[in-house]
Amino acid sequence: MGDIAGFVAATFRRGVPYVQIPTSLLAMIDSSIGGKTGVDTGFGKNLVGAFHQPNVVLADVQTLATLPPVQLAAGMAEALKHGAIADEAYFADLVSRPDAVRSLDPDVLISTVKRSVEIKASVVTEDERENGRRAILNFGHTVAHALETTLGYELLHGEAVAIGMLAEAKLGVLEHVTDPGAVDSLQQALAAYRLPVDIADDISVSELSEALLQDKKTRGGTVKFALLERIGSVAGEIGAGWTRTASKENISTVIRDLVAN
Ligand SMILES: NC(=O)c1ccc[n+]([C@@H]2O[C@H](COP(=O)([O-])OP(=O)(O)OC[C@H]3O[C@@H](n4cnc5c(N)ncnc54)[C@H](O)[C@@H]3O)[C@@H](O)[C@H]2O)c1
Ligand SMILES: [Zn+2]
Repeated sequence: MGDIAGFVAATFRRGVPYVQIPTSLLAMIDSSIGGKTGVDTGFGKNLVGAFHQPNVVLADVQTLATLPPVQLAAGMAEALKHGAIADEAYFADLVSRPDAVRSLDPDVLISTVKRSVEIKASVVTEDERENGRRAILNFGHTVAHALETTLGYELLHGEAVAIGMLAEAKLGVLEHVTDPGAVDSLQQALAAYRLPVDIADDISVSELSEALLQDKKTRGGTVKFALLERIGSVAGEIGAGWTRTASKENISTVIRDLVAN
């Protein structure tokens, strides 16, 4: 909702001021922050959109009282991502308190929203147009977007991100970039929040590979990924960049593993 409202605000009269009032956990901790807006189309995720910063973002965790539990869990996938890419202690905190989140403990929700917003805002402020470090926010998203496109947006975004993070952590291990312990940590964290780690639907290796090539991080036919170094940091550096290619064999292994499950 925030993405489409923001996109209308970005394009109506070539841009009008707007305010984001997120009412889902995902929107509070992630999509309302950073000024990315857009609409999903059948051609692929995020191919149509605009950068347009809201004047104000107003999040009130009391609105989450009516949010369906699966939507709450989907939001936690992005929170876990924030911990995984930038703050190991935050990741560990999240893993320790799924019950408090599920029972909507206001202090826990507020501190979660606050820490995730701090992480996202600091990454985005550093890099408003994604030339550099902002790409770390895409951890899990190359695979997630391919899944969303292939499955026609049947999966919730957060669920696709959960599956994508685990797949990309495995890819990072195969590429000798990611500490193997990160895969176990992610698996435990996703289980704690009852998030999916594999696909229930029947999709083919070729469909998923095709969708991966449509990703906007794809350049000259090679797919780019933001890969973890370990929980709390993404592999990369200023100059060399924060996304990398992976070998065709390793990508195929990960895709086959996903589809086989
Ligand atoms: N712009 C960005 O930077 C960015 C970042 C992450 C995700 N996204 C996008 O955000 C979308 C997912 O966000 P979302 O989960 O907020 O989507 P959404 O707006 O579709 O909300 C999810 C569902 O929850 C319902 N809902 C929302 N608040 C509720 C409440 N308080 N009580 C009861 N029901 C409520 C909505 O009606 C909807 O059915 C995806 O399309 C994803 O790609 C964008
Ligand atoms: Zn996301």
